[in-house]
Amino acid sequence: MCGIVAVIGSREAAPLLLEGLRQLEYRGYDSAGLATVRVLEDSGEAVLSCKRAKGKLKNLSELVDTHGSFGHLGIGHTRWATHGKPEECNAHPHRDSSGKIAVVQNGIIENHRSLRESLELEGIHFSSETDTEVIPHLISRELLRLEISGCKPGSSTLLKAVQNVSQQLKGAYAIAVIWELAPDALVVARKQAPLVIGFGEGEFLCASDTPALVGFTRTILPMEDGEVALLTPLGIELYDERGYRQQRSPSLLSGAEHVVDKRHFRHFMLKEIHEQPETAELWVARHLPEGLPAESPVALPFDESFYAGVEQIQILACGTSRHAAMVGAYLLEQFAGIPTSVFYASEFRYSAPPLAPNTLTIGVTQSGETADTLAALAMEANRREAHGDPAFASRQLGVTNRPESSLSRQVSNILDIGAGIEVGVAATKTFLGQLLAFYGLALAFAARRNSRSSSEILKLLKELRSVPNHLRILVQKHDQLSEALAHRFADTQDVIFLGRGINYPIALEGALKLKEISYIHAEGYPAGEMKHGPIALIDSRVPVISIAMPGVVFEKVLSNAQEAKARDAQLIGVAPEGLETEIFDALMPLPEVSEWISPLLSVVPMQLLSYHIAAHRGLDIDQPRNLAKSVTVE
Ligand code: F6R
Repeated sequence: MCGIVAVIGSREAAPLLLEGLRQLEYRGYDSAGLATVRVLEDSGEAVLSCKRAKGKLKNLSELVDTHGSFGHLGIGHTRWATHGKPEECNAHPHRDSSGKIAVVQNGIIENHRSLRESLELEGIHFSSETDTEVIPHLISRELLRLEISGCKPGSSTLLKAVQNVSQQLKGAYAIAVIWELAPDALVVARKQAPLVIGFGEGEFLCASDTPALVGFTRTILPMEDGEVALLTPLGIELYDERGYRQQRSPSLLSGAEHVVDKRHFRHFMLKEIHEQPETAELWVARHLPEGLPAESPVALPFDESFYAGVEQIQILACGTSRHAAMVGAYLLEQFAGIPTSVFYASEFRYSAPPLAPNTLTIGVTQSGETADTLAALAMEANRREAHGDPAFASRQLGVTNRPESSLSRQVSNILDIGAGIEVGVAATKTFLGQLLAFYGLALAFAARRNSRSSSEILKLLKELRSVPNHLRILVQKHDQLSEALAHRFADTQDVIFLGRGINYPIALEGALKLKEISYIHAEGYPAGEMKHGPIALIDSRVPVISIAMPGVVFEKVLSNAQEAKARDAQLIGVAPEGLETEIFDALMPLPEVSEWISPLLSVVPMQLLSYHIAAHRGLDIDQPRNLAKSVTVE
């Protein structure tokens, strides 16, 4: 987590850093800070200054007079607290004891305790509880050592010091470093945390993610693992982990997908919910064009070897992505006939099942940066590589919204969901994009394995092509309906979401959305499981939201809903109008579509209801407490 941004060039750094941080605030908002180096005109002396503030970026902005002169070199940080409370003393940048070196970091320095102890034994005093603070102290110690061995202060000495210190750090991190005695140098380093260099006009930038760069340049160079770069006003030097100079050409960011703009909506989350018809339309246009051959009915970027011989699938993911994976598993098993398991990525890494042959492993992560998912995929690739038998070889696919992310550098097959950048911390349109990706995969496998007749495949294709239109009507209708319903939840403390079969993961997703942004306790259950315990929670104060879509479990779900009603629950149905839905106290109506595609629609009322409940409670919907969009720590 955390976002870092840095610049060296010819214009004032502070306004640029603040704007870059604004675009990165989705990565954390516990505190923010920046440090700059300014060369005084009269004396030519360089001065490093630092400003930090607890809380959101606006607190830092109020401290920084952007009309003042801060210099042309600077680093900035927006924090999601890992080590140390969200207080100003723990805000980045962190400095060494002389105050001449400043560092921002995203990630975790795993060996910080032992490093700290050894520095403390040398008499270094620490002023924060963070893992990051060891870095400026280590760089300071290293600079002293280099000076003793004859190196002069300046950019190449700072580069050398950071390269040496990087060797001592364990963990996953990205850092940016400045030094008062090298006012023409910005040194950045990356190890398993994202960092992208930007080539601006008369300036070079660096940031955790591209939205921080697009206001200034579209020419970018994503750094690779272990690389360290020296940025000066004149150019960039890039080195690999062993210190060898690297040559790589930058690439161009295309399209508007990296531009972050709320348009006329009150919140990014609402805007992103409303963008879902477009997300589906684009996906259908790209992947479900008419006229593809029956044996390959979906346009996916894989050759036949990708599909051949897959006997089982395992899916690794976290949070909302895991819920999409659960719908995916249902489709891959029930429609395409492939045994499929879903794992919490954070659990899989330390308790993976015994290896099975001919297994496809799918990592689902909208950001492509979730540390738990990346680490689980890497662990799985390593243990398969160690096995040696070709039947056990690693076959991996990444499903992501950020094809330029770390995931893409780790996994050879990527399925880009193409939902456009999502800023609201609560995932909405990317969830829909992930679901659609799984429909594509299930269809592609089913057609190749003959696990479904061609008419069943054609029927599902046709239904999927109708999804954008259904969504267009649904988001408008449910925006109003949910707003009207939200007042009922003003004092609610617990909500239960019920679903079954393909809609069980949607009940989980509904509960997660509500928890995340409204801070109301919510649980998602498979409807048939309620009587085995959770029913004890139900009384007249507990709303029960029941997803009841016609299909194999329709009658069962209605019976389960009745059981809740008999215990005085306030029953809200997400179901088609007319079909025995009079049992519900309130209905969030859906069109009567096939059960297969129902999750693509049933999730919309869940998202909008959560949104309006949180809005009704006056909460900070796009930046809910304690959360961050990109979870780059384990
Ligand atoms: C929920 C949410 C999180 C993420 C989870 C995984 O709204 O956003 O639960 O789904 O942190 O993130 P990705 O998909 O980036 O791996």
